[in-house]
This record gives sequence, C-alpha cells and structure tokens, in this order.
Amino acid sequence: MADTGRRKPLIIAVDGPASSGKGTVARTVALLLGYQYIDTGAMYRAVALVARERGISWDAEDAVAEVAAGLHFAFSFDGELLQVLVDGRDVTADIRQEHIGQGASDVSRHPTVRRALLGLQRALARRGGVVMDGRDIGTVVLPDADLKVYLDAKVEERAQRRHAELSAKGEVVGFGEVLEALRARDKQDMERPVAPLCQAEDAVFLDSTHLTIEEGVDAVLELAKARGAKAGGAGRLD
Ligand code: DC
Repeated sequence: MADTGRRKPLIIAVDGPASSGKGTVARTVALLLGYQYIDTGAMYRAVALVARERGISWDAEDAVAEVAAGLHFAFSFDGELLQVLVDGRDVTADIRQEHIGQGASDVSRHPTVRRALLGLQRALARRGGVVMDGRDIGTVVLPDADLKVYLDAKVEERAQRRHAELSAKGEVVGFGEVLEALRARDKQDMERPVAPLCQAEDAVFLDSTHLTIEEGVDAVLELAKARGAKAGGAGRLD
C-alpha cells in the first residue's frame, strides 16, 4: 500500500491452533506497534472457569451462554504479561490451567456462547490499533481486518512447546498425553459446525514449526508495515 502519510492504525487478526505461538506473537506485535492486544481465547477460558465454579456443566448451552453474556472483561498489561480481569477479579493464572483450556474448547462449540462474545470482540476492535488472536477472527469476528495471519506448526512441535511450558510450571505430564490432548482439541476446534478453526481465504499462512518467536514476530511486523503500520509502542519498527 502506498504511504499516504495518514496511516490509520490497523486491525490485525491472528488465528491458529493451540500452542502455535500465536498468543506470544500477537502480544509482542501489539506491544511493538503500540496496539491493543485482545486474547479471545482468554474470554472462552474465563467463561469455562466461571461456569465450572458455579457448578454449570460445559455442555449446558443455555446456562453457559447466560454466564458468557453476564461477564465483564478487562485486559491490562503487567510488564509483558497480559492480565485478564473478569468482573474485577484477576483470573490470569486460573484460566491457564490445562483442564480450563479443554473447557474453553467445549463451551466455544455452543453458538449462543459465541454470539454472546462476538459483539464485545467486534466492539473492542472497532477503532483499530488492535491485534486480536483466536480461532475465527479472520473468518467471522473481523472479516474486514487489514491483515490476517494464520499461524500454524506441526502438532508434534506444538506438543513439545506445550510440554516444556507445563514442565516449567512444575506440572508432570507425559509427552504422549500432551500430544493426544492437542490432537483432540484441534479436531474439536476444526470440526465444530459454527465458526470452526480454519484459515481465511485472504489470510497469510505462516508455519512456525522452525521459527523462533522473534522470527514469527518479525514476519508479522513486516506484513503489518507493508500495510501501512508504523511504530508506536516499544518502537522497534524501522
Ligand atoms: O487460544 P486458546 O487456547 O486460549 O483458546 C482456548 C479455546 O477457546 C480453544 O480451544 C477454542 C476456543 N476459542 C474459540 O473457539 N474461538 C476463539 N476466537 C478463541 C478461542
């Protein structure tokens, strides 16, 4: 795109499967551009967490949708760590538990739950200057995004990353178990009838199997620059 000198902040959509690195890449790109980072997976995770705490089954669509519609979300940064507040409570650590990831995938199958979060997600992106990550951002939530990236990696590599993350947290889980859980989650997220995980036609495919986080970040920054983004945050964009 030609540089008109009146560059508007972009709307950037990053989709991909679990442990593809999309969260870290999207968050870092947002910091460097001075954009807001919005983690839509965290919203589904929070819905799963709160439903569980209220004794609501993840399969109970109506009751879970009611939870989703009633929650108030706030995101803030503590250094580079994204903090997620739900109804004023910090759920950052709680939503990252392994079983809550599965619960998020379960609750996200329900069309009414997705509908309850869609308006909020679109409203957060309305003014631009955002990097939003998830599964259906380029296809459903922000089909008119200025830049769409689909970040993927071989499932074995993603399982290795996840396994290393869990080990670092002191959680002892076998590699095979992590691999199987990821395969099951990919299948559920890709095969659901509503807003399944898939690459938007106009998304740029990035395979992160052999990329470091920094290389992934640089690739997305280059694409953003080509579409007119300029530095505004930590400002490494030349
Ligand atoms: O990105 P994540 O692993 O935190 O997401 C957790 C689950 O939430 C994921 O398995 C499916 C669901 N999800 C979704 O359906 N749509 C999104 N835009 C983001 C997440």
